[in-house]
Amino acid sequence: MPRHPHVSSTTETLSSRVFSELAAKAARLRREGRRLYDLSVGDTYREPLMAARAEAQTTAEHPHLHTYAPPRGVPELLDAVSERLSSLGGEVPPERIQIMSGATSGLSVVCETILDPGDEVLLPAPFWPLIRGIIASRGATAVQIPFYDRLERIDVREVLEAAITERTVALYVNTPHNPTGRVLSPAVVDAMVEVARAHDLWLITDEAYQDLCFAERPRPIWARPEVQDRVIACHTLSKSYGLAGARVGYTHGPEAVMKAIRGVQTFSTYCAPKPMQLGAARALKEGDAWVEQARSAYAEAGRLAAEALGIDAPQGGTFLFFDATPYLRDGEDDAMGLLDRCLDRGVLLTPGVSCGVDYARWVRLCFTSVPRPELEAALEALGPVLS
Ligand SMILES: Cc1ncc(COP(=O)(O)O)c(C=O)c1O
Repeated sequence: MPRHPHVSSTTETLSSRVFSELAAKAARLRREGRRLYDLSVGDTYREPLMAARAEAQTTAEHPHLHTYAPPRGVPELLDAVSERLSSLGGEVPPERIQIMSGATSGLSVVCETILDPGDEVLLPAPFWPLIRGIIASRGATAVQIPFYDRLERIDVREVLEAAITERTVALYVNTPHNPTGRVLSPAVVDAMVEVARAHDLWLITDEAYQDLCFAERPRPIWARPEVQDRVIACHTLSKSYGLAGARVGYTHGPEAVMKAIRGVQTFSTYCAPKPMQLGAARALKEGDAWVEQARSAYAEAGRLAAEALGIDAPQGGTFLFFDATPYLRDGEDDAMGLLDRCLDRGVLLTPGVSCGVDYARWVRLCFTSVPRPELEAALEALGPVLS
């Protein structure tokens, strides 16, 4: 049956109108010359390590710089990733690593590889907004489980098991976490791992913020011996190294699934951008001091923002997530009116509902997207609205 001019029914469920309306208003205010602080998108004001930048990669140094890269990834980067994983506590040979166009693409390729339409994925909420769409675009269902904001009050194993059905095939875990800034404790991870093993689930770990733990970094989940047969880990250079526009990340997992993932990745983007893979290799090899400076500047920014909001400082990542109920006006049952008032004060924030259906009264704030003086100005501008 012809479909034109409609799109597939799966695609129709993907886009979120709530944020588009705020973004459109922000664009209009900018056109009118208004000063805006964008604390909605998870990016950084810091320029990356010089050696990792696009302009540092030259054809003179790398002949055929603009040809296709091997689909698996350039050897320099595969070696650098393998070394990096070893320094984080796990031995992963280059053969089990696939370079991806960032974690978004890595997670999409993983979902495409292990999910069938109709499958269910346990999605502890709140969550990074894109993951729901990534799962849905495979025709699978993201089963949202209120989780990160109430870890002290729940029995982790019980809430996860209550959501399992015969269609459940995977559990997604993200720590340090977008949007709450929490780092999961070893006890919580133990419970998640037990559930995955007891119910024979794939464990998809999202390592986007692996280098942004503000206190001690716990052992990565993917390095635990008991999950070696089921963990697929997706990493990225976007957050750790300020290379979000470079679109470089890496994924690893058990050998057989990596073979399948490699096949799907080839059909998807074929290869990540070669010049930026070479830049990423330099970042991994030479970027420790850069990451250390970023981590301490972000931790400080997170503390400052949390203090202004009257909430606990983040344990990692680049976001704060808060219940905005005290700031809503009579008759308001979600945060949209409040976000509009924030925008009128020049600050763009993200509606909590993008991070899960249970979070319509919550708001997400990124504390790393603007330099410190601008963050201070934005927090001051928010003062009258959030009091
Ligand atoms: C938890 C999480 N996973 C994955 C990503 C995607 O990262 P990338 O830029 O590598 O696609 C993000 C980006 O914000 C994120 O917050």
